[in-house]
Amino acid sequence: MASPERLRLTVIGCGYLGITTAASFASLGFDVLGVDIDPARVTQLNDGVSPVYEPGLSDLLAAQISSGRLRFTTSYETAAKHGDVHLVCVATPAGPDAGVDLSQVNAVAESLFPLLTRPCTVVGKSTVPVGTAATLAQRLRSSAPAGAEAHLAWSPEFLREGYAIHDTLSPDRVVIGVMEDADRPVKMLREVYANHADRGIPVVVVDLATAELAKLSANAFLATKISFINAMAEICEATGADIDSLSQVLGMDARIGPRFLRAGVGFGGGCLPKDVRGFLASADDLGTPAALSFLREVEAINQRQRERVVQRAGTLLEDSWARSRVAVLGAAFKPGSDDVRDSPALDIAARMHLRGAQVVVHDPQAMASARSLWPSLEYAPSTRLACQGADLLLVLTEWPEYVALDPVSLATHVRHARVLDGRNCLDAEAWTSAGWTYRGVGRRTS
Ligand code: UGA
Repeated sequence: MASPERLRLTVIGCGYLGITTAASFASLGFDVLGVDIDPARVTQLNDGVSPVYEPGLSDLLAAQISSGRLRFTTSYETAAKHGDVHLVCVATPAGPDAGVDLSQVNAVAESLFPLLTRPCTVVGKSTVPVGTAATLAQRLRSSAPAGAEAHLAWSPEFLREGYAIHDTLSPDRVVIGVMEDADRPVKMLREVYANHADRGIPVVVVDLATAELAKLSANAFLATKISFINAMAEICEATGADIDSLSQVLGMDARIGPRFLRAGVGFGGGCLPKDVRGFLASADDLGTPAALSFLREVEAINQRQRERVVQRAGTLLEDSWARSRVAVLGAAFKPGSDDVRDSPALDIAARMHLRGAQVVVHDPQAMASARSLWPSLEYAPSTRLACQGADLLLVLTEWPEYVALDPVSLATHVRHARVLDGRNCLDAEAWTSAGWTYRGVGRRTS
């Protein structure tokens, strides 16, 4: 195995992806320098404190800072001197007109490229529209000083929130996108991922556009699976079939597989919805109608799913929104995260609030982020207080503590024992036996 000490890495952009990448590669023995333009964030990181919530990340960060293999700076000059490989991990949020905002990627190019005086590879890890890497490669050629021998590669990141360290250190595959005849960056990246390869993780070398597309199409496919199963849930409701059993049977087909077939309130977060919309915008620009119409439907089903849950809540409340107190358990877009970006849970809570209900929200991790996005909702410090006097309970994020709720004791706190299980995560029989009117998504209920 190549000695990791030989290559020095910089990680540019110390958000969620960057911190995880920096700490994970330091744990593999690399000398890593993280770069961020925010001095307060850099100070915090150098103190070993993570500004983002991710299971295990604080401990990993603190350990790697103590080991001396990881530190952070605001200086691009220091970064340019340090790095053999520069991993670009800046955010690419949704931009105007459903496109993608590449301003942070462009800022890195502007700040870093002219300072690259030694042989190095700049590796994009952020999710970008197809064609971005080729444009950056061109820019690198024109703005890096003569003789710098700087190459551009793209290696998209597939990590999930809540499993970020595991997914960085043990992904299903590593994709390396390069220009033709690019031996040097491939060699460097094979060294960066030597530990992965030694553990049997496939490392696939492709061209730049395919690497960019690998990430976008993976997220689009996952979104498609979710919208597909939600469409099936609608059919289950219309026919009396049961979505849990259907998902199980479908997942047993090795060609389909069981994952991402959980029906519910639909997908959310900072990635899947944004990437589907960004992909849609690209498909429109490229004039590729098949992808365009197909992904439009994936997105439409996802939005409709939220509204269907609200309508169902209205039916349970006999449409007397203004006189109803509704408890919402869950604000994060999924458990194990404090992220409320495009969260179906918070969106549904807000829609019910806008219809006039008194909505009280609880989440074990995402209260602060939810409150800053929707200050007009009420927030309760405990599940029990959220449910106190409620006319309807909605479980919209499947946190383990909600799955483990005791329906018998909870029934004594609510005004009406009605529950809408937006994640199909509760034991329908146990809740029904405890006197609750139970509704899931596409689940057959007695
Ligand atoms: C997603 C991808 O899974 C990662 O591979 C990718 O790297 C990442 O986006 C990214 O682009 O950075 P993440 O946003 O952390 O990861 O979330 P997922 O675990 O994919 O879940 C997305 C949404 O789908 C959540 O709202 C979740 O509740 C929902 N979901 C997931 C379902 O509704 N049903 C399912 O069966 C699975």
